[in-house]
Amino acid sequence: MTANALKILLVENIHPVAKETLMAEGFHVDLITHAPSESELIQLLPKYDVVGIRSKTELTAEVLSKNPHLLTIGCFCIGTNQVNLQSAREKGVPVFNAPHSNTRSVAELVIAEMISLSRQLGDRNTKAHVGDWVKSAEGAKEVRGKTLGIVGYGHIGSQVSVLAEAMGLKVVFFDVVKKLPLGNAVMKSSLEELLKVSDFVTLHVPETPETKDMMGAKEMAQMKKGSYLINASRGTVVVIDALVEFLKSKHIAGCAIDVFPEEPSSNKEKFKSPLQGLANVILTPHIGGSTEEAQYAIGMEVAESFRRYLKIGSSSGAVNFPNVDLPVKHGTSRLLNVHKNEPGVLGEINGLISKAGANIEGQYLSTDDKIGYLVMDVHSSQAQALAADIDKLSRSIRTRLVY
Ligand code: NAI
Repeated sequence: MTANALKILLVENIHPVAKETLMAEGFHVDLITHAPSESELIQLLPKYDVVGIRSKTELTAEVLSKNPHLLTIGCFCIGTNQVNLQSAREKGVPVFNAPHSNTRSVAELVIAEMISLSRQLGDRNTKAHVGDWVKSAEGAKEVRGKTLGIVGYGHIGSQVSVLAEAMGLKVVFFDVVKKLPLGNAVMKSSLEELLKVSDFVTLHVPETPETKDMMGAKEMAQMKKGSYLINASRGTVVVIDALVEFLKSKHIAGCAIDVFPEEPSSNKEKFKSPLQGLANVILTPHIGGSTEEAQYAIGMEVAESFRRYLKIGSSSGAVNFPNVDLPVKHGTSRLLNVHKNEPGVLGEINGLISKAGANIEGQYLSTDDKIGYLVMDVHSSQAQALAADIDKLSRSIRTRLVY
């Protein structure tokens, strides 16, 4: 099937750049603004080859089994829990998301928070709104020359590092993986080493069993007296009750928290936290990555993943599917096959190739414990017949030609 014939449905008001980009690639794209219910999806999806959703549309096992023809799914957001990934994988459907499109947005928020904390902007703003004039330099400091400790030097942590150095901060970082320092940043050998020297500590680790409660009372006691803590990573990383105690004793001079162990599920639900009402505490409703630019970047990133998978078979970045990243090959056809990863399957496929006398000019295979993803560049005159034969194998899940 050519790109022009493929139909894509984008739901939940996905940024229009995704539609524009995909239409420019020759796909037919329909956009709807709401999150369709399960029954609506079951009705809608038979007309489409691809669906793009955000966080509110649920692609359940039921929806997927009624639509086994779907070629790929895009989550135009970070999380992918709303899709039954296992069921999609078993049907040979790669699911893409956009985990890093909001990196810069989070990094900028952290920089804003460092300055806000060291000038007590949150409290002074609140006071000015109710008529209290608090003009005083006490406790207000520049960030220049201070030390920023970054825990987790990945996409976000390393961006914060670059921005902070540009403002004259010294940067130290700690990561479980040895990372190349950017600029003049210095890697510390342990979390404790970082906490001992940092005026600001900012957390940028993923949610894992190892990072759960990684900033508790013991670690807060290791922080410098009068230092600040920023968490825009995951709510499980900081022990909130311990933080309350360290703020009350003034050992920690302030904090900015964007993520919480329990967060309201919608804007209609009330937010409660033991941190409410404490001095120099900035609380934000998990908005680190929520900017218009990030939405735009997400639209571009997932649209690009669709283009690469649909037109060249590249599955890199798929969260539930073996990753294969391939150069485009000219002068041949490209055959994609997803099969059950069981002993003997490749032998059967190779048997069909030799029976057809097909000339394979390139072959790429990636597997996980359940499925194998095989990409072959075949002489164009032999591709259709070979694809049809391979598709008939009992352990083939799906087979298609991309060009
Ligand atoms: P990333 O995967 O690029 O970087 C994470 C880094 O943490 C990696 O370098 C990893 O080696 C390191 N790490 C893992 N375990 C560690 C440990 N125990 N100690 C020290 N370092 C450790 O992730 P990225 O994109 O930088 O995201 C970081 C966090 O920010 C994630 O938790 C993500 O969910 C969160 N996030 C929050 C947003 C918000 O709206 N507040 C938006 C986007 C991401």
